[in-house]
Amino acid sequence: MNHLPDTLKEVDRVEIVTLIDNYVDVLLTDTDVVTRPPHAAGEEFLRDTLVAEHGLSLLITVYRGPKTHTILFDTGYSQIGVPHNIALLGIQIQRIEAIVLSHAHMDHTGSLHKILDGIQGPVTLVVHPGAFYYPRYIEQDDGKRQRFPRTLSREDLAYEKVKILENENAILMAENGIMVTGEVERTTGFEKGLPGALMEKEGEMKPDPISDDQALVLNLKEKGLVVISGCSHSGIINTIFHAQKLTGLTKVHAVLGGFHLTGPAFEPIIEKTISELKNMGPEVIVPMHCTGWKAIQRLDQEFPSAFVLNSVGSKITLA
Ligand SMILES: [Fe+2]
Repeated sequence: MNHLPDTLKEVDRVEIVTLIDNYVDVLLTDTDVVTRPPHAAGEEFLRDTLVAEHGLSLLITVYRGPKTHTILFDTGYSQIGVPHNIALLGIQIQRIEAIVLSHAHMDHTGSLHKILDGIQGPVTLVVHPGAFYYPRYIEQDDGKRQRFPRTLSREDLAYEKVKILENENAILMAENGIMVTGEVERTTGFEKGLPGALMEKEGEMKPDPISDDQALVLNLKEKGLVVISGCSHSGIINTIFHAQKLTGLTKVHAVLGGFHLTGPAFEPIIEKTISELKNMGPEVIVPMHCTGWKAIQRLDQEFPSAFVLNSVGSKITLA
């Protein structure tokens, strides 16, 4: 792992396998970009199925020349879904060199300990230090509050095989082939974070900017930036702008992940988000998880050739 200002190196190819997302459909077909998992073995359909849940977990493998690196980005909500899908997809989790958490919410951290238990190690856990902050809440319009469960603690992660790397700022990993953004600068004005998010500090409730929100950025050879978000609590457009600023690269080839455009608070910014994305002209758009059905529909309409409908078990290949 290297701290910037080393340069993000080009990669020849990246493969992104969805271990958990909100959606599964075993009848989807392959395209140039996406390979769907088999739902039959020989002459018989599989007895068991991949499962979906409200969460995100992506297995990401980058290739440069003879070099390969595999990392895990987020670990879903339940302790059941990701391990179940890993077993059904026949994935060898010993390949995982590092786990990056997009933020500490429970739909991104659920299977973390289960997966760490299954990896011999060593494994690096990359997380913004703000992810350890507790307690944090959502306050509803009627004033009622729900507390987020405590999903991460340094004590619970004190495994010998785990090295925790806390990054407030951008870092490079996978021999400089993957950038983790660290805290995302918020510049767009229309992306205002998660309404009602609060953190308790010295007995007082303060707005929670979810500063632990971070994304992955790759530089795909001859194609441009690949931006992979978890929940985009900083805003997906802010995240892409930040990736451009960090790398000095402007061409955006692919945008994948949770864009968090669901529900009455976010649906009003769907069109603005689409118009900003149109300015960037990505060739691949894969909305996942918290993007929401309405935004997914609109992205399909507005980007008919770039749009990919994600589903658990799908493998996106960018090269
Ligand atoms: Fe999420």
